[in-house]
Amino acid sequence: MSSITLTNVKKVYGEDVIIPDLNLVIEDGSFTVLVGPSGCGKSTTLRMIAGLEGPTSGNIYIDDQDVVNVAPGKRGIAMVFQNYALYPTMTVKQNIEFGLVNKKVPKAEREKLIKEVCEIVGLEKYLSRKPGQLSGGQRQRVALARAMVKKPKVFLMDEPLSNLDAKLRAAMRVELIQLHKRLGTTFIYVTHDQVEAMSMGDNIVLMDKGIIMQRSSPRDMYNDPQNVYTAQFIGTPPMNIVRDLLLDNYSIGFRPEKITLNPDAGEDMFRIKGHVMTKEHLGSEINYSITTEYGLVMAKLEQEVADDCDVMIGVDYANLYIFDQNDNRTELDANIKKALIAVSAQ
Ligand SMILES: Nc1ncnc2c1ncn2[C@@H]1O[C@H](COP(=O)(O)OP(=O)(O)O)[C@@H](O)[C@H]1O
Ligand SMILES: [Mg+2]
Repeated sequence: MSSITLTNVKKVYGEDVIIPDLNLVIEDGSFTVLVGPSGCGKSTTLRMIAGLEGPTSGNIYIDDQDVVNVAPGKRGIAMVFQNYALYPTMTVKQNIEFGLVNKKVPKAEREKLIKEVCEIVGLEKYLSRKPGQLSGGQRQRVALARAMVKKPKVFLMDEPLSNLDAKLRAAMRVELIQLHKRLGTTFIYVTHDQVEAMSMGDNIVLMDKGIIMQRSSPRDMYNDPQNVYTAQFIGTPPMNIVRDLLLDNYSIGFRPEKITLNPDAGEDMFRIKGHVMTKEHLGSEINYSITTEYGLVMAKLEQEVADDCDVMIGVDYANLYIFDQNDNRTELDANIKKALIAVSAQ
Protein backbone atom coordinates (compact mmCIF):
# COMPACT_ATOMS: atom_id res chain seq x y z
CA MET A 1 0.00 0.00 0.00
CA SER A 2 1.27 3.41 -0.90
CA SER A 3 0.45 7.06 -1.25
CA ILE A 4 1.26 9.04 -4.38
CA THR A 5 2.32 12.67 -4.38
CA LEU A 6 2.69 14.93 -7.41
CA THR A 7 4.31 18.31 -6.81
CA ASN A 8 4.46 21.03 -9.46
CA VAL A 9 4.20 18.48 -12.23
CA LYS A 10 4.29 20.03 -15.68
CA LYS A 11 3.92 18.18 -18.98
CA VAL A 12 4.58 19.75 -22.34
CA TYR A 13 4.28 18.07 -25.76
CA GLY A 14 5.99 20.24 -28.38
CA GLU A 15 4.37 23.65 -27.99
CA ASP A 16 1.37 22.35 -26.06
CA VAL A 17 1.28 22.69 -22.30
CA ILE A 18 -0.89 19.71 -21.42
CA ILE A 19 -0.46 19.97 -17.66
CA PRO A 20 0.69 23.36 -16.38
CA ASP A 21 1.28 22.75 -12.67
CA LEU A 22 -0.32 19.75 -11.03
CA ASN A 23 -0.26 19.24 -7.27
CA LEU A 24 -2.01 16.17 -6.01
CA VAL A 25 -1.76 13.84 -3.04
CA ILE A 26 -3.44 10.46 -3.36
CA GLU A 27 -3.84 8.82 -0.02
CA ASP A 28 -2.75 5.34 0.82
CA GLY A 29 -5.62 2.89 0.33
CA SER A 30 -7.99 5.41 -1.27
CA PHE A 31 -10.13 4.86 -4.35
CA THR A 32 -9.45 8.05 -6.27
CA VAL A 33 -11.16 8.83 -9.56
CA LEU A 34 -9.67 11.24 -12.08
CA VAL A 35 -12.51 12.52 -14.21
CA GLY A 36 -12.74 15.14 -16.93
CA PRO A 37 -13.50 15.57 -20.62
CA SER A 38 -11.50 13.79 -23.30
CA GLY A 39 -8.10 15.41 -23.78
CA CYS A 40 -7.88 17.04 -20.33
CA GLY A 41 -4.75 15.09 -19.38
CA LYS A 42 -6.07 12.15 -17.35
CA SER A 43 -4.15 9.44 -19.19
CA THR A 44 -1.03 11.59 -19.30
CA THR A 45 -1.20 11.96 -15.52
CA LEU A 46 -1.65 8.23 -15.04
CA ARG A 47 1.17 7.40 -17.46
CA MET A 48 3.49 9.71 -15.57
CA ILE A 49 2.64 7.99 -12.28
CA ALA A 50 3.26 4.62 -13.94
CA GLY A 51 6.54 5.84 -15.40
CA LEU A 52 5.50 5.29 -19.04
CA GLU A 53 5.99 9.02 -19.52
CA GLY A 54 8.31 11.47 -17.75
CA PRO A 55 7.13 14.86 -16.50
CA THR A 56 8.70 17.88 -18.20
CA SER A 57 9.37 19.19 -14.70
CA GLY A 58 8.21 18.53 -11.15
CA ASN A 59 8.34 15.56 -8.79
CA ILE A 60 6.40 12.35 -8.37
CA TYR A 61 6.67 10.42 -5.11
CA ILE A 62 5.48 6.97 -4.17
CA ASP A 63 5.40 7.15 -0.40
CA ASP A 64 8.58 9.14 0.33
CA GLN A 65 10.54 7.99 -2.70
CA ASP A 66 11.01 10.30 -5.67
CA VAL A 67 10.31 7.93 -8.58
CA VAL A 68 10.91 10.21 -11.57
CA ASN A 69 14.04 8.25 -12.44
CA VAL A 70 12.70 4.85 -11.38
CA ALA A 71 11.79 2.46 -14.22
CA PRO A 72 8.08 1.54 -14.57
CA GLY A 73 8.69 -2.09 -13.57
CA LYS A 74 10.37 -1.02 -10.35
CA ARG A 75 7.61 1.25 -9.08
CA GLY A 76 5.34 -1.42 -7.62
CA ILE A 77 2.49 -0.21 -9.79
CA ALA A 78 0.16 -2.15 -12.10
CA MET A 79 -1.86 -0.53 -14.85
CA VAL A 80 -5.03 -1.78 -16.50
CA PHE A 81 -5.79 -0.30 -19.90
CA GLN A 82 -9.00 0.31 -21.81
CA ASN A 83 -8.01 -2.10 -24.59
CA TYR A 84 -6.80 -4.73 -22.06
CA ALA A 85 -3.50 -5.19 -23.97
CA LEU A 86 -3.63 -9.01 -23.75
CA TYR A 87 -1.36 -11.25 -25.83
CA PRO A 88 -3.75 -12.86 -28.34
CA THR A 89 -1.70 -16.01 -28.94
CA MET A 90 -1.25 -16.83 -25.25
CA THR A 91 -3.81 -18.56 -23.07
CA VAL A 92 -5.44 -16.80 -20.15
CA LYS A 93 -3.03 -18.54 -17.82
CA GLN A 94 0.01 -17.58 -19.87
CA ASN A 95 -1.17 -13.97 -20.04
CA ILE A 96 -1.46 -13.82 -16.29
CA GLU A 97 1.77 -15.71 -15.72
CA PHE A 98 3.89 -13.73 -18.15
CA GLY A 99 4.98 -10.96 -15.77
CA LEU A 100 5.81 -13.49 -13.06
CA VAL A 101 8.01 -15.54 -15.38
CA ASN A 102 9.82 -12.33 -16.30
CA LYS A 103 10.37 -11.62 -12.64
CA LYS A 104 11.71 -15.18 -12.22
CA VAL A 105 9.10 -16.14 -9.64
CA PRO A 106 9.44 -19.92 -9.00
CA LYS A 107 6.84 -22.17 -10.65
CA ALA A 108 5.12 -23.37 -7.47
CA GLU A 109 4.73 -19.78 -6.28
CA ARG A 110 3.37 -18.77 -9.70
CA GLU A 111 0.74 -21.51 -9.63
CA LYS A 112 -0.37 -20.43 -6.18
CA LEU A 113 -0.66 -16.76 -7.15
CA ILE A 114 -2.55 -17.51 -10.36
CA LYS A 115 -5.01 -19.74 -8.53
CA GLU A 116 -5.55 -17.07 -5.91
CA VAL A 117 -6.29 -14.18 -8.30
CA CYS A 118 -8.36 -16.28 -10.70
CA GLU A 119 -10.59 -17.26 -7.83
CA ILE A 120 -11.08 -13.62 -6.91
CA VAL A 121 -12.02 -12.52 -10.44
CA GLY A 122 -13.85 -15.75 -11.37
CA LEU A 123 -11.60 -17.03 -14.16
CA GLU A 124 -10.85 -20.55 -12.89
CA LYS A 125 -12.77 -22.18 -15.74
CA TYR A 126 -11.14 -20.22 -18.53
CA LEU A 127 -7.43 -20.66 -17.88
CA SER A 128 -6.72 -22.57 -21.09
CA ARG A 129 -8.70 -20.29 -23.41
CA LYS A 130 -7.21 -17.64 -25.66
CA PRO A 131 -8.42 -14.02 -25.35
CA GLY A 132 -10.30 -14.37 -28.67
CA GLN A 133 -12.50 -17.03 -27.06
CA LEU A 134 -13.59 -14.75 -24.22
CA SER A 135 -16.30 -12.11 -23.82
CA GLY A 136 -15.38 -8.47 -23.22
CA GLY A 137 -16.07 -8.81 -19.51
CA GLN A 138 -13.89 -11.92 -19.24
CA ARG A 139 -11.03 -10.22 -21.05
CA GLN A 140 -11.33 -7.35 -18.62
CA ARG A 141 -11.01 -9.85 -15.79
CA VAL A 142 -7.85 -11.31 -17.33
CA ALA A 143 -6.36 -7.82 -17.50
CA LEU A 144 -7.28 -7.31 -13.85
CA ALA A 145 -5.89 -10.69 -12.82
CA ARG A 146 -2.66 -9.96 -14.62
CA ALA A 147 -2.35 -6.70 -12.69
CA MET A 148 -3.31 -8.29 -9.36
CA VAL A 149 -0.92 -11.19 -9.59
CA LYS A 150 2.00 -8.79 -9.31
CA LYS A 151 0.70 -7.67 -5.88
CA PRO A 152 1.21 -4.03 -6.73
CA LYS A 153 1.20 -1.26 -4.15
CA VAL A 154 -0.96 0.83 -6.46
CA PHE A 155 -3.47 0.01 -9.21
CA LEU A 156 -3.87 2.44 -12.07
CA MET A 157 -6.91 1.95 -14.30
CA ASP A 158 -7.44 3.93 -17.46
CA GLU A 159 -11.07 3.75 -18.57
CA PRO A 160 -11.01 -0.02 -18.01
CA LEU A 161 -14.74 -0.52 -18.55
CA SER A 162 -15.40 1.65 -21.57
CA ASN A 163 -15.40 -1.25 -24.05
CA LEU A 164 -18.16 -3.08 -22.18
CA ASP A 165 -21.88 -2.72 -22.72
CA ALA A 166 -23.87 -0.68 -20.20
CA LYS A 167 -25.16 -3.61 -18.16
CA LEU A 168 -21.83 -5.36 -17.81
CA ARG A 169 -20.15 -2.05 -17.06
CA ALA A 170 -22.50 -1.47 -14.14
CA ALA A 171 -21.79 -4.96 -12.80
CA MET A 172 -18.03 -4.57 -13.18
CA ARG A 173 -18.13 -1.24 -11.36
CA VAL A 174 -19.60 -2.95 -8.35
CA GLU A 175 -16.97 -5.70 -8.60
CA LEU A 176 -14.16 -3.17 -8.72
CA ILE A 177 -15.50 -1.40 -5.65
CA GLN A 178 -15.60 -4.76 -3.84
CA LEU A 179 -12.14 -5.65 -5.09
CA HIS A 180 -10.80 -2.39 -3.70
CA LYS A 181 -12.37 -3.10 -0.31
CA ARG A 182 -10.94 -6.56 -0.30
CA LEU A 183 -7.40 -5.63 -1.34
CA GLY A 184 -7.17 -2.31 0.50
CA THR A 185 -4.69 -1.16 -2.14
CA THR A 186 -4.56 2.37 -3.51
CA PHE A 187 -6.68 2.59 -6.69
CA ILE A 188 -6.47 5.43 -9.18
CA TYR A 189 -9.23 5.16 -11.71
CA VAL A 190 -9.58 7.31 -14.82
CA THR A 191 -12.88 7.94 -16.59
CA HIS A 192 -14.52 10.67 -18.66
CA ASP A 193 -17.93 9.57 -17.39
CA GLN A 194 -19.28 11.64 -14.51
CA VAL A 195 -21.80 8.97 -13.52
CA GLU A 196 -19.05 6.37 -13.25
CA ALA A 197 -16.90 8.77 -11.25
CA MET A 198 -19.74 9.59 -8.86
CA SER A 199 -20.63 5.96 -8.31
CA MET A 200 -17.11 4.64 -7.75
CA GLY A 201 -14.78 7.09 -6.06
CA ASP A 202 -14.61 8.00 -2.40
CA ASN A 203 -12.53 10.81 -3.70
CA ILE A 204 -13.02 12.58 -7.04
CA VAL A 205 -10.53 14.79 -8.84
CA LEU A 206 -12.21 16.78 -11.61
CA MET A 207 -9.76 18.03 -14.25
CA ASP A 208 -10.06 20.45 -17.14
CA LYS A 209 -7.12 21.35 -19.42
CA GLY A 210 -4.66 19.76 -17.01
CA ILE A 211 -5.96 21.80 -14.05
CA ILE A 212 -7.82 20.45 -11.02
CA MET A 213 -11.18 22.20 -10.92
CA GLN A 214 -12.38 20.50 -7.75
CA ARG A 215 -11.41 17.66 -5.52
CA SER A 216 -14.00 16.30 -3.13
CA SER A 217 -16.36 13.50 -2.23
CA PRO A 218 -19.12 12.66 -4.74
CA ARG A 219 -21.65 14.27 -2.42
CA ASP A 220 -19.77 17.57 -2.29
CA MET A 221 -19.18 17.52 -6.04
CA TYR A 222 -22.93 17.63 -6.46
CA ASN A 223 -24.04 19.68 -3.45
CA ASP A 224 -21.15 22.04 -3.06
CA PRO A 225 -19.52 22.83 -6.43
CA GLN A 226 -16.83 25.47 -6.07
CA ASN A 227 -17.12 26.85 -9.61
CA VAL A 228 -19.40 26.89 -12.65
CA TYR A 229 -17.30 24.24 -14.40
CA THR A 230 -17.84 21.69 -11.63
CA ALA A 231 -21.49 22.67 -11.23
CA GLN A 232 -22.12 21.92 -14.90
CA PHE A 233 -19.93 18.83 -15.22
CA ILE A 234 -21.78 16.86 -12.55
CA GLY A 235 -25.50 16.19 -12.99
CA THR A 236 -27.74 15.44 -15.97
CA PRO A 237 -29.02 17.75 -17.34
CA PRO A 238 -26.33 20.10 -16.00
CA MET A 239 -27.02 22.89 -13.52
CA ASN A 240 -28.80 25.90 -15.03
CA ILE A 241 -26.61 28.99 -14.98
CA VAL A 242 -28.34 32.32 -15.42
CA ARG A 243 -26.07 35.21 -16.29
CA ASP A 244 -26.88 38.92 -16.72
CA LEU A 245 -29.53 38.88 -14.06
CA LEU A 246 -27.58 40.40 -11.21
CA LEU A 247 -25.16 43.34 -11.23
CA ASP A 248 -21.37 42.96 -11.01
CA ASN A 249 -21.41 39.93 -13.32
CA TYR A 250 -22.65 37.57 -10.66
CA SER A 251 -24.36 34.46 -12.00
CA ILE A 252 -26.91 32.27 -10.33
CA GLY A 253 -27.21 28.51 -10.66
CA PHE A 254 -29.90 25.97 -9.82
CA ARG A 255 -30.24 22.30 -10.57
CA PRO A 256 -32.99 21.10 -12.98
CA GLU A 257 -34.27 18.75 -10.28
CA LYS A 258 -34.65 21.53 -7.69
CA ILE A 259 -37.24 23.56 -9.58
CA THR A 260 -40.93 23.94 -8.71
CA LEU A 261 -43.17 24.93 -11.60
CA ASN A 262 -45.96 27.37 -10.83
CA PRO A 263 -45.27 27.61 -7.06
CA ASP A 264 -48.02 28.83 -4.76
CA ALA A 265 -48.28 32.60 -4.50
CA GLY A 266 -47.17 32.84 -0.87
CA GLU A 267 -44.05 30.71 -1.18
CA ASP A 268 -40.72 32.39 -0.47
CA MET A 269 -39.03 31.45 -3.73
CA PHE A 270 -36.95 32.99 -6.43
CA ARG A 271 -39.03 33.19 -9.62
CA ILE A 272 -38.43 33.50 -13.35
CA LYS A 273 -41.15 33.57 -16.03
CA GLY A 274 -40.84 31.02 -18.80
CA HIS A 275 -42.55 29.11 -21.55
CA VAL A 276 -42.44 25.31 -21.86
CA MET A 277 -40.95 24.40 -25.24
CA THR A 278 -40.48 20.64 -24.99
CA LYS A 279 -41.42 17.93 -22.59
CA GLU A 280 -39.66 14.57 -22.52
CA HIS A 281 -41.03 11.70 -20.42
CA LEU A 282 -38.28 9.62 -18.79
CA GLY A 283 -40.50 7.28 -16.78
CA SER A 284 -40.49 8.55 -13.23
CA GLU A 285 -39.51 12.08 -14.24
CA ILE A 286 -40.09 14.59 -17.01
CA ASN A 287 -37.41 16.74 -18.67
CA TYR A 288 -38.66 20.18 -19.60
CA SER A 289 -36.90 22.77 -21.69
CA ILE A 290 -38.24 26.18 -20.86
CA THR A 291 -37.39 29.44 -22.61
CA THR A 292 -36.94 32.54 -20.45
CA GLU A 293 -35.71 36.06 -21.08
CA TYR A 294 -32.36 34.90 -19.65
CA GLY A 295 -32.00 31.90 -21.93
CA LEU A 296 -33.03 28.26 -21.86
CA VAL A 297 -33.73 26.60 -18.49
CA MET A 298 -33.91 22.83 -18.05
CA ALA A 299 -36.13 21.23 -15.44
CA LYS A 300 -36.26 17.57 -14.41
CA LEU A 301 -39.30 16.91 -12.29
CA GLU A 302 -42.01 14.47 -11.35
CA GLN A 303 -44.40 17.40 -11.55
CA GLU A 304 -46.47 17.50 -14.74
CA VAL A 305 -47.57 20.65 -16.55
CA ALA A 306 -48.92 21.03 -20.09
CA ASP A 307 -46.45 21.67 -22.89
CA ASP A 308 -46.49 24.91 -24.86
CA CYS A 309 -47.74 26.90 -21.88
CA ASP A 310 -46.47 29.81 -19.80
CA VAL A 311 -45.01 28.79 -16.45
CA MET A 312 -43.43 30.34 -13.41
CA ILE A 313 -40.10 28.73 -12.50
CA GLY A 314 -39.63 28.73 -8.74
CA VAL A 315 -36.45 27.86 -6.82
CA ASP A 316 -35.97 27.90 -3.05
CA TYR A 317 -33.33 30.43 -2.11
CA ALA A 318 -31.53 27.62 -0.31
CA ASN A 319 -31.15 25.82 -3.64
CA LEU A 320 -29.56 28.76 -5.45
CA TYR A 321 -25.82 28.87 -6.09
CA ILE A 322 -24.07 32.19 -6.60
CA PHE A 323 -20.93 32.55 -8.73
CA ASP A 324 -18.73 35.63 -9.01
CA GLN A 325 -17.31 37.28 -12.15
CA ASN A 326 -14.61 34.58 -12.33
CA ASP A 327 -17.23 31.81 -12.12
CA ASN A 328 -16.10 30.90 -8.61
CA ARG A 329 -18.67 30.10 -5.97
CA THR A 330 -19.55 32.80 -3.49
CA GLU A 331 -22.00 33.18 -0.60
CA LEU A 332 -25.62 34.09 -1.04
CA ASP A 333 -25.25 37.00 1.40
CA ALA A 334 -27.92 39.48 2.52
CA ASN A 335 -27.07 41.97 -0.24
CA ILE A 336 -27.28 39.39 -2.98
CA LYS A 337 -30.51 38.06 -1.55
CA LYS A 338 -31.96 41.58 -1.60
CA ALA A 339 -30.91 41.96 -5.25
CA LEU A 340 -32.43 38.57 -6.08
CA ILE A 341 -35.74 39.49 -4.46
CA ALA A 342 -35.73 42.70 -6.49
CA VAL A 343 -35.31 40.88 -9.84
CA SER A 344 -37.54 37.92 -8.95
CA ALA A 345 -40.69 37.82 -11.09
CA GLN A 346 -44.07 38.39 -9.42
N1 LIG B 1 2.52 11.48 -27.05
C1 LIG B 1 1.85 12.63 -27.23
N2 LIG B 1 2.31 13.58 -28.07
C2 LIG B 1 1.64 14.74 -28.26
N3 LIG B 1 0.49 15.05 -27.64
C3 LIG B 1 -0.02 14.15 -26.80
C4 LIG B 1 0.62 12.89 -26.54
N4 LIG B 1 -0.13 12.19 -25.65
C5 LIG B 1 -1.19 12.98 -25.36
N5 LIG B 1 -1.12 14.15 -26.04
C6 LIG B 1 -2.10 15.26 -25.96
O1 LIG B 1 -2.25 15.60 -24.59
C7 LIG B 1 -3.58 15.95 -24.30
C8 LIG B 1 -4.08 15.12 -23.12
O2 LIG B 1 -4.18 13.78 -23.55
P1 LIG B 1 -4.65 12.62 -22.57
O3 LIG B 1 -3.85 12.67 -21.32
O4 LIG B 1 -4.62 11.37 -23.35
O5 LIG B 1 -6.15 13.07 -22.26
P2 LIG B 1 -7.34 12.22 -21.61
O6 LIG B 1 -6.82 10.92 -21.14
O7 LIG B 1 -7.86 13.10 -20.50
O8 LIG B 1 -8.37 12.11 -22.69
C9 LIG B 1 -4.38 15.76 -25.56
O9 LIG B 1 -4.53 17.02 -26.17
C10 LIG B 1 -3.48 14.86 -26.40
O10 LIG B 1 -3.68 15.11 -27.75
MG1 LIG C 1 -7.34 8.98 -21.78
